[in-house]
Amino acid sequence: MCGIVGYVGKEEATKILLDGLTKLEYRGYDSAGIAIRNKSEDLRIVRAEGVLKNLIDKVNALGDIKSTSGIAHTRWATHGDQSERNAHPHSSNDNFIVGVHNGIIENFQELKEKLLHNGYTFYSNTDTEVLIKLVDYYYKKYKGGPIDAINKVMVRARGSFAIALMFKDFPDEIWFAKKGSPLIVGKSDTGCFLASDIPAILKHTNKVYYVEDFQSGCMKNNSIIFYDLNGDDVTSSMELKTIDWQLSDTEKGNYPFYMIKEIEEQPKAVWACLNVYTKNDLVDFDSIGITKGYLKSLDMVYILGCGSAYNVGRVSECIIEELTDVGVRVELASEFKYRCYKLKKNSLAIIISQSGETKDSYEALQKCKEEGIKTLSIVNVKGSAIPRAADYNIYTYAGPEIAVATTKAYSSQLIIMYLFALALAEAKGDISQSEMKTYIKELKALPDKMESILSNKASVQKFANQFVSKKDVFFIGREMDYAICEEGSLKFKEVTYIHSEAKPAGELKHGTLSLVTTGVPVIVVATQPELIEKSMANMEEVKSRGANVIAITLEEFNVSNSSKYQIYIPKTNKLFTSSLVIIYLQLLAYYVSIAKGINPDQPRNLAKSVTVE
Ligand code: F6R
Repeated sequence: MCGIVGYVGKEEATKILLDGLTKLEYRGYDSAGIAIRNKSEDLRIVRAEGVLKNLIDKVNALGDIKSTSGIAHTRWATHGDQSERNAHPHSSNDNFIVGVHNGIIENFQELKEKLLHNGYTFYSNTDTEVLIKLVDYYYKKYKGGPIDAINKVMVRARGSFAIALMFKDFPDEIWFAKKGSPLIVGKSDTGCFLASDIPAILKHTNKVYYVEDFQSGCMKNNSIIFYDLNGDDVTSSMELKTIDWQLSDTEKGNYPFYMIKEIEEQPKAVWACLNVYTKNDLVDFDSIGITKGYLKSLDMVYILGCGSAYNVGRVSECIIEELTDVGVRVELASEFKYRCYKLKKNSLAIIISQSGETKDSYEALQKCKEEGIKTLSIVNVKGSAIPRAADYNIYTYAGPEIAVATTKAYSSQLIIMYLFALALAEAKGDISQSEMKTYIKELKALPDKMESILSNKASVQKFANQFVSKKDVFFIGREMDYAICEEGSLKFKEVTYIHSEAKPAGELKHGTLSLVTTGVPVIVVATQPELIEKSMANMEEVKSRGANVIAITLEEFNVSNSSKYQIYIPKTNKLFTSSLVIIYLQLLAYYVSIAKGINPDQPRNLAKSVTVE
């Protein structure tokens, strides 16, 4: 949440910063701002409420401005409304220190009172203004220089932050610090960069340092120096990492929106995951250190995540239970943190996260570690906080995901969970190696089947207009089909702003059926052979109340009498149908969003990387 960018070097800073912000807008679009400097010349600050385009227009209206360094920000409001007054960058009096911040300062009220007591005044409602004025306070009081002041703040401010600061005394230098929120720093032949996420600077460099918690530093024309909390120079201990994402992965190309681009990239993403984690048609987790012996020792698996990542857990639960006797408990990370039950010995906690930065998921992981439970992360962004803290990591190979609503990361996570379930079942002796090979061959056929669904997009697009005026939409299914309905419903409400609910098909009549009246769309997912008759009975129940039933099913199940429309997925093993159903559900959400004139990449009030509780 919130994205920051910084640059100092020989190129035009304003252009680099604004371009960087376009790649971070998924982190928040309540307001945006920029602070720039041309060598030692005075600072210019421009802020604008609303989407980034408003800031870009404002900056363009200033004409030809020259700048050699600067910082920029895109905001997801936490403290204070979405006004220009609360937009970053924020500054101390006389712009002595100017800064941008990603994160949240929990004790900002207490710190503000301390500063008020010392004569400071405040113009915004933000915690960031407090943070920056606190740096100013320590800088002026102790006269120990920027790192001394930043480190004092690091100790006093509770919560999380990644900050980039410009000091009047140090023109063309950008100072930074991290505690909790993500921050990367990189260098090219022409200058130094910092950002909340890789896409913002990938155009300029694919070699980055991941700043550690409680580290600070300074970037100048051609050098980056890192310091620890004692103020000691720790630059020599930092490792420069190479990013394997391509620049084209972060561009929209010819697509109108990232969401549809990313939906269409799913066959490639699924294939990449299968390619990395299978060998000779067997699961190959050797590179991540998970041995067969270890899997065999497990009695229980906890699966933790938020939003769509949690929904992956819900499908995986059904598959692990189908293939093994190992217990599975799927929990929302935000709830798990506060639950009081005792975690079982011989268990593994799997934390699923696209960004690897979601605060609730990170804290759920920490709770498992405190209780002595081994942790496995399934994450898309390399070097992010969750994999750095986990015992084992399986990276998904979805590439950068920019649209706020996850699509290709979801599909990649699901593939990894299938592989995990198969590896667990094989280690436990529940399936043989030759059975595993049959499953893997089936998985390897999924990308082509996904392609065939994508080439049939028009079959979903034609329904979109029918949803535009609807108030409620219901998604129903049984068992695994219910689990995929949860993801379909989340995607739908997220980008269409239409109320939607996922319900187990058999549960509808225990309350929710009262909302099913003439013309209400009910999407029924029915892919499991042993449940098809029950699902058809549920289609009849809603049909007889006037619902427009859309069945997502297989051609071999004859549901045409029980539903108004039928959408067929290609045949696959019954364990893997969710991977095909989800493509149709994502397409439905996308096309309804477009039909309503909504930008599906930036649904209101949402941000992609949720670094607050
Ligand atoms: C929904 C969506 C969110 C995320 C959730 C977790 O489309 O994208 O529900 O799944 O915020 O984010 P990560 O996976 O980054 O932990």
